[in-house]
Amino acid sequence: MRRIILSIDEPISKEKLVEMEDGLAAVKVGWPLILSIGVDGVNKLLTGLGLKKIFDLKLADIDNTMNLIVEKLKPMADAFIAHSFIGVRGSLGSLNLQGRELYLVLSMSHPGWNESFYPYLREVAMEVNPEGLVAPATRPSVIRKVREDFPTKVVISPGVGAQGAEPGDAICSGADYEIMGRAIYLSERPVEKLREITKKMEDRLYEC
Ligand code: C5P
Repeated sequence: MRRIILSIDEPISKEKLVEMEDGLAAVKVGWPLILSIGVDGVNKLLTGLGLKKIFDLKLADIDNTMNLIVEKLKPMADAFIAHSFIGVRGSLGSLNLQGRELYLVLSMSHPGWNESFYPYLREVAMEVNPEGLVAPATRPSVIRKVREDFPTKVVISPGVGAQGAEPGDAICSGADYEIMGRAIYLSERPVEKLREITKKMEDRLYEC
């Protein structure tokens, strides 16, 4: 089973991406790539790829603003990531995703994140009932908690590689997919790097 989601935060050649396609579960794109190559550039890069396309814009606004963004990007998106702290009334509760999936951020992967937000974010996520949740590979205890609180949700987990978690750490703690960006796309040979990471992950999963 393919368990790696490639986070493309900097331009990458379409040729390389196509070569990696078989080893990936999905791609995740967000503001850095959109600002580098534009919406049309992102569209060209993603067109024809047989992978789920997750737009990580960390939507966090009133419903009208978020709906205008979704409307623009929906032709190329299969899923959107939003922040849960924005709450339900006037915001997530009226988000019109037009058939696209929603992933809510329950915790961030960087060192400065304040985990005491979690009870509130969990309450919002329970009410909104998204397809999936984002929880950090850098905090295995948080992934275990999210898995316990949301046994049936898809959990996707960033923080592997450049941010310190090892391939397989998050899945061993209960995540379904691991998100990796720089560890792959900044490598001199991204295609080989993906293979190497996949092998490491398989070995780790065998142990846990
Ligand atoms: O390059 P790297 O593997 O660190 O990329 C991780 C990606 O996941 C980035 O796009 C980052 O914005 C995103 N992300 C994260 N932590 C979260 C949610 C998203 O690192 N909690």
